[in-house]
Amino acid sequence: MMETKNLEGRSVLVSGAASGIGRALALECARRGARLVICDVNEKGLGEVETAVREMGREVLARRVDVAKESDWRELATLVHADRECVDLLVNNAGVGLGGGLLDTTIEDWDWILGINLRGVVLGCHFFVPRMVERKRGGHVVNVASMAALAPSETLVAYSTTKSAVLGFSEALADELQWHGIGVTGVCPGFIDTPIVASSVLRGPSASDEARAQAQAFYRKRGYTAERTAINILKAVARGRIVAPISPESWFAFGLRRASPSALRYLMRRMGERLRRELAAPR
Ligand SMILES: NC(=O)c1ccc[n+]([C@@H]2O[C@H](COP(=O)([O-])OP(=O)(O)OC[C@H]3O[C@@H](n4cnc5c(N)ncnc54)[C@H](O)[C@@H]3O)[C@@H](O)[C@H]2O)c1
Repeated sequence: MMETKNLEGRSVLVSGAASGIGRALALECARRGARLVICDVNEKGLGEVETAVREMGREVLARRVDVAKESDWRELATLVHADRECVDLLVNNAGVGLGGGLLDTTIEDWDWILGINLRGVVLGCHFFVPRMVERKRGGHVVNVASMAALAPSETLVAYSTTKSAVLGFSEALADELQWHGIGVTGVCPGFIDTPIVASSVLRGPSASDEARAQAQAFYRKRGYTAERTAINILKAVARGRIVAPISPESWFAFGLRRASPSALRYLMRRMGERLRRELAAPR
């Protein structure tokens, strides 16, 4: 198990570190003494995080990486491994949102979200885990899935699909890597107040400024911060959790899925129905 209170001398890689949960996690790891590798497609946000980490007096390597692109990962891995044996903590956090059902979603939408949310996570592991194994001194992998993996929703069909796959991948990988003393955690955040709702692609009935504003207001009011999420992710790593719900709603979904899968499906259907009614109602 990996101690996370003090990360002095530990190398931590965070993808999607320019914003939200990734940004908060990178800053929290820096505060705890880590040497950081951060990447994102958002170079402006990444530059801000890089500056903030330097101002804390910590070492940081920042690179533009599109997690869906094998060549970007390969270049980053070459750069990182030229300088250290391997990273101690790999956080595959980068992800995008896509609202809508199968009937609303194009094949290009599927390719886009599968490329980032699923292939991005697999590529991160492909390029960084083998060196951890070769070093023979443990390490930890965090893959950020979602509550949508515990409670897949008809309003987020493609998104739920990618996150369920990330969680399944993480569980299987945890069993594979335990033989090498490496831990794996699939993180399932609930509703976290980050810019993800603003940047999500919306399709079908939810594809309106009004629906987006409503969702943003809901997340804001819920008020569960990225900083709190980062702290709880590091706690889950220290505890060696394989599946880590974050926030009470996600713990509820985790529990209900185990206690009564049919009750969970009933609840999700009622919620989908309610959303459809609200979106169809004249304003
Ligand atoms: N906010 C929530 O409520 C919530 C809930 C469950 C899961 N999540 C997951 O948490 C993770 C972080 O999301 P967030 O809420 O912090 O959102 P966010 O939008 O604030 O941050 C996501 C980051 O990923 C980056 N990114 C997007 N596509 C990329 C690509 N192709 N290559 C590299 N970087 C890319 C973005 O530029 C952004 O900086 C995501 O995987 C998301 O699905 C979020």
